[in-house]
Amino acid sequence: MSSTSRILCSRLRERIMSAEQAAELISPGANVGMSGFTGAGYPKAVPAALAERIRHHNATGGKPFRINVWTGASTAPELDGALAEVDGIEMRLPFQSDPICRGRINSGTMEYVDYHLSEVSQYAWSGFLGKMDIALIEVAGIREDGSLIPSSSVGNNKTWIEQADKIILEVNAQQNAKLEGMHDIYYGTALPPNRKPIMLTHPADRIGEAYLHCPVDKVIAVVETSAADRNSPFKAPDATSRRIAEHILEFFQREIEIGRLPKELLPIQSGVGNIPNAVLEGLDAGPFKNLTAFTEVIQDGMLKMLKSGTLGVASATAFSLSPDGIREFDENIDLYRDKIILRQQDISNHPELARRLGIIAMNGLIEADLYGNVNSTHIMGSRMMNGIGGSGDFARNGYLSIFVSPSTAKDGAISSIVPMVSHVDHTEHDVKIIVTEQGLADLRGLSPRQRAHAIINNCAHPDFRERLLDYFNRACASGRGMHTPHLLDEALSWHQRYETEGRM
Ligand code: COA
Repeated sequence: MSSTSRILCSRLRERIMSAEQAAELISPGANVGMSGFTGAGYPKAVPAALAERIRHHNATGGKPFRINVWTGASTAPELDGALAEVDGIEMRLPFQSDPICRGRINSGTMEYVDYHLSEVSQYAWSGFLGKMDIALIEVAGIREDGSLIPSSSVGNNKTWIEQADKIILEVNAQQNAKLEGMHDIYYGTALPPNRKPIMLTHPADRIGEAYLHCPVDKVIAVVETSAADRNSPFKAPDATSRRIAEHILEFFQREIEIGRLPKELLPIQSGVGNIPNAVLEGLDAGPFKNLTAFTEVIQDGMLKMLKSGTLGVASATAFSLSPDGIREFDENIDLYRDKIILRQQDISNHPELARRLGIIAMNGLIEADLYGNVNSTHIMGSRMMNGIGGSGDFARNGYLSIFVSPSTAKDGAISSIVPMVSHVDHTEHDVKIIVTEQGLADLRGLSPRQRAHAIINNCAHPDFRERLLDYFNRACASGRGMHTPHLLDEALSWHQRYETEGRM
């Protein structure tokens, strides 16, 4: 099927143009709200054409041409990579994972604001991000009345379409036509004090509509594309990630025996990254049937669980599939389409819903400290990795917040358990369980000093365990305070040593 046959609205057919012509409609300094979430549903042609235009403009001198890019979450090389390469992004929000973008952020040539993903829409509505000039949104089709069939992610598209002065649509013929009907767009959100309870009590509930409303008069261009979403393959589960999954599985089984979790568990959320994906594969090997997911992204591991029946239904805002995962989904979409609901990210990640449903949140960490504070964004305190994404939405508000990581990084040079984290994303008050391949520390009900023992004994790598214990014992003996003992002149010395000597 061509893109043109997916554009059923005659008024919008009149606005079909090339990506290059559409890119001409974006002005320097514009705030552009783009679709795209974890490598799914991002515009494929106009960003590249715009990057080319910026490259040409900047080569001829004058004031640099840069725009502000707001998305749902991370995109792909054709968007973040292309625009970052030509230094075309002034401000980026709210999440990215592109290596070129990351380089610019960490060299200080791109501003970056890293927000909880559930909150971006309300920030845009409240106005302090500035006025959105243009929304650039990929869709799977346009209906006769101008309403839009969303593609493989919903993200912030509803908000961008509502907020923008002008809209450019990319209609992608490679997005599976059977995506139609899988989305649930909720039109009941409001700013305080006008909010109403969100009447969703089960991950499978539908509370909205299958299509995005779109004011036809605001659409200034329609561009036809035909390109697949592009995501990197996941690292295959290895012995480390398999051990992590086994610890979690044992923990769930114990909780069920004690009666603290039902045998179908509670709705699961699984974060981005290789380790969370490997944990899903591990769960699939367990005895569970008919679990539910209320999560942000559907990774390969979740597709496998849906296929095997381990998972009965999954609610998310986007896919985040490897090339193999995309193929599997496309070839078997009839099997998946009734089991997956895609919502906008202010609903998929909503704190009210995470708390009500009692989410089991499982996310990756970069480092955790002796007391359970977690850093999931910064390398050595200063360099951005990806961003907090939705991890805080779920970890803070869920029923159980589990953080997973190998106990070491960079071939054993770095301990993931450190005396004090060099940056805090998830505080000791939110983190309930930490799991490495060494074991699982259940921090619930433990005081800070009790937590330190649990984390050192269960999670730290043996190469670092004694030194962590030594730090803790000397901090206790220092007489500075026994609630959360620290040696202030030494707390970050492990990071300092890594920076100067290449080993912690
Ligand atoms: N110091 C330095 N580098 C570290 C590190 C540390 N303490 N811990 C991990 N890394 C590096 C790894 O070496 C690896 O680098 P490489 O790609 O060059 O090999 C990279 O970080 C990823 O680590 P990996 O162990 O493969 O884990 P992952 O792919 O599961 O990612 C996070 C872990 C924390 C980066 C990832 O989960 C993340 O971005 N989380 C924040 C956002 C989030 O949780 N969103 C979910 C909401 S739904």
